[in-house]
Amino acid sequence: MAESPTPSGDGRYAVEGMDLRKTFPLRRSILGRVTERAVAVDGVSVRVEPGKTLGIVGESASGKSTVARMLAKLVPADGGTVRWGGVDVTTARTGALRPLRGSIQMIFQDPYGSLDSSYSIGYSVAEPLLVHRRATRAQAREQVAELLETVNLDPRLADRRPGELSGGQRQRVSIARALALRPTTLIADEPTSALDVSTRAEILNLLMRLQDSMGLAIVLISHDFATIRHLSHRVAVMYRGKVVEEGTADEVVDNPQDPYTRRLLDSVPVPNVEQQRARRARFREDDAAWRAGRAAGPGA
Ligand SMILES: Nc1ncnc2c1ncn2[C@@H]1O[C@H](COP(=O)(O)OP(=O)(O)OP(=O)(O)O)[C@@H](O)[C@H]1O
Ligand SMILES: [Mg+2]
Repeated sequence: MAESPTPSGDGRYAVEGMDLRKTFPLRRSILGRVTERAVAVDGVSVRVEPGKTLGIVGESASGKSTVARMLAKLVPADGGTVRWGGVDVTTARTGALRPLRGSIQMIFQDPYGSLDSSYSIGYSVAEPLLVHRRATRAQAREQVAELLETVNLDPRLADRRPGELSGGQRQRVSIARALALRPTTLIADEPTSALDVSTRAEILNLLMRLQDSMGLAIVLISHDFATIRHLSHRVAVMYRGKVVEEGTADEVVDNPQDPYTRRLLDSVPVPNVEQQRARRARFREDDAAWRAGRAAGPGA
């Protein structure tokens, strides 16, 4: 396999994609045969350790979401290998995957899309537990309350519908749902770009807190270099279906080697380290204040 990282059957990485490839049909003949394919992902290798965040940054259509979907096995890769906790799941059949089911979860940009508007919040969060037979209805109800508390939501919101919640609350619900099956890894694809600025901070802060308390690996996809730098341990920069640069967040931001990364950085002002620290501290304060205020009633 080309440029595969060190063998990792030992499960050192929570999730790992090696030499991933994906093309999509671009043109078809009048008989429906595909005559031209667009290369969306062209030999991408990424991996993330438990408890760490890999940021993936890059312009629109560079292949970020396609990589994420292949890592989560929401779309099959045309080539390459996907490993979850060291286990090759690339071609695993459903039955063989069962014990690992739920270990990689995705959170999307638009919480409207990931929550069924006709379900109650409680059912949305419980659904994975019930579908995968991990809990009885009574157990699921208890776990829903716990999960909602984990994401700083009042358990009484369980009876509401998604339409009655704010965008930030909805994104918290989709995180609670993603946590239901106790994943090792969250893949967050632009999780905050549909939210207003203050809600963004809350959600990013929540993800950091969950990472600290649960040892979650996180793959965070964003257009925004400032967000990526602030939250990621390592960063991969994608350009036209390839990773053009990969390194620690500081390496990539302070000493970018690739001209594309430099251009990307020039177009996004990155606050200095002091500002970053201050911001992180502010996030923590906001979160503490928010949690303190939660006793006041549902929502916030
Ligand atoms: N289901 C699909 N069918 C056809 N083409 C697709 C499909 N999904 C993605 N593509 C194409 O693959 C390329 C990569 O898309 P992808 O969504 O992975 O980019 P992205 O980096 O996530 O972009 P954005 O930042 O806009 O979300 C694009 O050219 C896109 O048009
Ligand atoms: Mg995308």
